Amino acid sequence: MLTNKLLAKDGNGCPYLQLAPMEGVGDTCFRKAIATIGGFDEAVRDFLRVPSNAHVKSLSKVYCSNELWPVPLAAQIMGSDTILMAAMAQELVLRGAPRIDVNCGCPSNTVTGKGAGSSLLKDPNTLYEVAKSVVAAVSVPVTVKMRSGYEDTALFKENLLAAQESGVCYITLHPRTKVDGYGPPAKWELIAEAKSLLKIPVVGNGDILTVSDAREMLNTTKCDGLMIGRGSVINPFIFHQIKAFFAKEDFIPLGEKMMGYFDVFLKSMSPDIPMRIQVNKLKQLLSFLFKNQKLLEYRQQILNSKYEEPYSLLQYAQSYFYKNCINIFSN
Ligand SMILES: Cc1cc2nc3c(=O)[nH]c(=O)nc-3n(C[C@H](O)[C@H](O)[C@H](O)COP(=O)(O)O)c2cc1C
Repeated sequence: MLTNKLLAKDGNGCPYLQLAPMEGVGDTCFRKAIATIGGFDEAVRDFLRVPSNAHVKSLSKVYCSNELWPVPLAAQIMGSDTILMAAMAQELVLRGAPRIDVNCGCPSNTVTGKGAGSSLLKDPNTLYEVAKSVVAAVSVPVTVKMRSGYEDTALFKENLLAAQESGVCYITLHPRTKVDGYGPPAKWELIAEAKSLLKIPVVGNGDILTVSDAREMLNTTKCDGLMIGRGSVINPFIFHQIKAFFAKEDFIPLGEKMMGYFDVFLKSMSPDIPMRIQVNKLKQLLSFLFKNQKLLEYRQQILNSKYEEPYSLLQYAQSYFYKNCINIFSN
């Protein structure tokens, strides 16, 4: 069955691992960089807006299905106009999208003000109509990525059932409300609730930072796959470490791998990007890496450092993690 194949475990029983969409942080440069380390089975591109005046052909051009080849890259769309969402999905499939994900989670007020993202959680019927129009428009799998609610979880079950009823293959659940933002801990018990309510699979997402978090989410929720976002920017080896746990193997995080990761990150930036912006983009990536407990005390130094070009900043930063990679990123 298609759905089972979509979220197939590996030969060692490791669940399907997905790299989360992260607009602004997880852009092409980051995705190409983390793909050099790898370990994830699929990535989801950050959302493509489908505004009410969308010209879908031109908007869809930024999606590149073979960006991470051979790792598939799903396309995520965000909007509320059923006709335009369907047209955008079709355009993306023509561009090779292996799966279309409907964003029902973005908390940004600019987005929700236009009735898209997490706004769809205010009315299960709208969510149903939007998802159904996309399902009807394309022959590739369609999925929904949602939060647990808008202001609260009053419509949690209705929204899950509406998504299921629309014909999507599975749901990815980030169990925080729009109002929660990224603040309070993700409520994994809601993933367990979704699992027991739904017939379709549920991918669990939210606050997986270590292998033991991944195991705990799987054990406590029985979810069918895992999606990791910020945890992979803090520790780009996390997917391999989860896979290695299931394979009963040791995984050794190497400094060379980390340097290759940063090198690809920097080389993937357009040469037209001014040096100052390149430095800032690298600092943003480092600001996540240095959230690691063993690097935290140096984080402010990195953020306050003044470099005019990115490789000098990288050389400075790597002195904190290169030699000690095994210890810093061990789980
Ligand atoms: C900077 C940032 C940008 C995000 N952009 C998107 C996005 O484009 N689409 C989406 O569905 N979720 C987006 N998210 C939410 C993440 O995909 C994920 O659901 C959330 O961060 C919780 O997972 P984590 O704890 O593993 O990061 C974003 C999160 C962050 C931190």
